[in-house]
Amino acid sequence: MGEPHPGRVVIGEPELRGRIAELGQAIARDYAGREPVLVGVLQGAFMFMADLVRTIPIDLATDFISLSSYEAGTRSSGRVRLVSDLSIPIADRHVLIVEDIVDTGLTLAHLKKNLEARRPKSVRACVLADKAERRQVEITLDYVGFTIPDVYVVGYGFDYGGLYRNLPYVAALEGA
Ligand code: IMP
Repeated sequence: MGEPHPGRVVIGEPELRGRIAELGQAIARDYAGREPVLVGVLQGAFMFMADLVRTIPIDLATDFISLSSYEAGTRSSGRVRLVSDLSIPIADRHVLIVEDIVDTGLTLAHLKKNLEARRPKSVRACVLADKAERRQVEITLDYVGFTIPDVYVVGYGFDYGGLYRNLPYVAALEGA
């Protein structure tokens, strides 16, 4: 077995491209004329955010927030820490959170609450991958790229111990 490493491809590059374009079209349709702020959740969503915004041909702003919910390893600690905050105010703006993956839901629930306290016009969520069967808190996901089984994934922004974010596809971590 050896060290944990990327194995079987779970979401390939053409699938990512196609589905992200569909999400972008839906977002463009829903937010036309509303100048939304897309808030990417670092680090995991950086690649998804970059590809997603290129498929949304309307006026929008981008910003990033950095949260940490995992101490290390592959399971949520349940604790969510704000590592770095947004750089712009979001009061009276339509906010769309762009998140890499929702597992227990604790991170997104915490983030939604945090952003809602800043009095935006709306807060919705777009996630690339949903591990629906692992949910611990009820949460509404407005745009979902893929529903995936309970496997730990790496690549396309997802890491294991800081590695493998640069893979252009999503793979299952093997040997962990
Ligand atoms: P939650 O709070 O349990 O929903 O966890 C959400 C966060 O856990 C995500 O933003 C990821 O950073 C991380 N995470 C959950 N599952 C995976 C995975 O399979 N690979 C990489 N990171 C994951």
